[in-house]
Amino acid sequence: MYQDKEGPYSKIAGTGGYLPEKILTNADIEKIVETSDEWIVERTGIKQRHIAGENESTCDMAEHAARQALEMAQCKPEDIDLIILATTTPDRIYPSTACLLQERLGCIGAPAFDVQAVCSGFVYALTTADKFIKTGAAKRALVVGAETYSRILDWEDRGTCVLFGDGAGAVVLEASDEPGIFATQLHADGRYNDILTVGGQVNQGEIIGSGFTAMNGGEVFKFAVTHLSKVVKEVLADNNMQADEIDWFIPHQANMRIITATAKKLHFPMEKVVTTVSEHGNTSAASVPLALNIAVRDGRIQRGQTLLLEAIGGGFTWGAVLLKF
Ligand code: ACO
Repeated sequence: MYQDKEGPYSKIAGTGGYLPEKILTNADIEKIVETSDEWIVERTGIKQRHIAGENESTCDMAEHAARQALEMAQCKPEDIDLIILATTTPDRIYPSTACLLQERLGCIGAPAFDVQAVCSGFVYALTTADKFIKTGAAKRALVVGAETYSRILDWEDRGTCVLFGDGAGAVVLEASDEPGIFATQLHADGRYNDILTVGGQVNQGEIIGSGFTAMNGGEVFKFAVTHLSKVVKEVLADNNMQADEIDWFIPHQANMRIITATAKKLHFPMEKVVTTVSEHGNTSAASVPLALNIAVRDGRIQRGQTLLLEAIGGGFTWGAVLLKF
């Protein structure tokens, strides 16, 4: 069991999620690029993904997910004293999508900022919010992961466009005398910035370089499996815990092969692993909170259970969070 550590802790009081209405199946993608349902399912486990409507923004999706999380937490927007939003696809270069969300919700005055750690964004944001709460700097945080990832995909590149989808997930994290989050680990290795990137930059009103996702799939795969199992072992060791003490493993939903390879390395039976990748694709920063929300709302995850969240993404960045729900 987790070691006794000094409180205060931060605890998840509510979860929320949102997926856009439009679904793009593998059969639909077969009409866009030269690929097949068989290839996509065999290599990634993905069968479909949701795609944001033309006028739907990251902030729109974040708002839906946030309102659901607030409702479950029985908390009013004005009770929120911190907003952290993880995204790779903000509505604007600035201000942050967190500030745009704040205006919509009306929790004016609370600090609000975005976190950019690509697919690890939610784990980074949750860890940051946990530290604010532990130090007494915040009492109730709204933590969101939201992406319109489809907008930074080259729909002529079959190597990447089949992998991603859009959506948002959110949690309300609040101060508590009992755990809550009891261990977090974050890492980055900027030497790997080129294996997954959108390399362009805005200069004088134009995008210089590419505005599309470029990926070395093989390198990403190897990096992910090695570093995810390592970081999970780290958080477990920090707390003298064994994998069999975890009730639910909620990994980043990049690819079914990465999830099963990591679970196997860690000896997690697949019955304890929450997977949504077949229905959502990789929703980047939204993937972990979306999966969490789904398993909470369908009754798999119960109060008092121990959860292990992990993610890895561009940067490269990766991390894990161990918590009692
Ligand atoms: N449909 C059909 N064929 C395809 C497709 C496609 N969508 N994409 C690539 N191919 C072809 C390639 O062109 C190549 O053909 P060739 O042999 O004639 O050159 C062949 O399939 C094999 O390509 P590989 O890249 O070797 O295929 P691999 O088995 O490595 O699978 C994949 C590719 C699925 C991208 C894999 O490398 C992977 O899962 N990588 C991890 C990527 C990932 O999850 N990224 C998400 C973002 S990062 C993150 O969230 C952690």
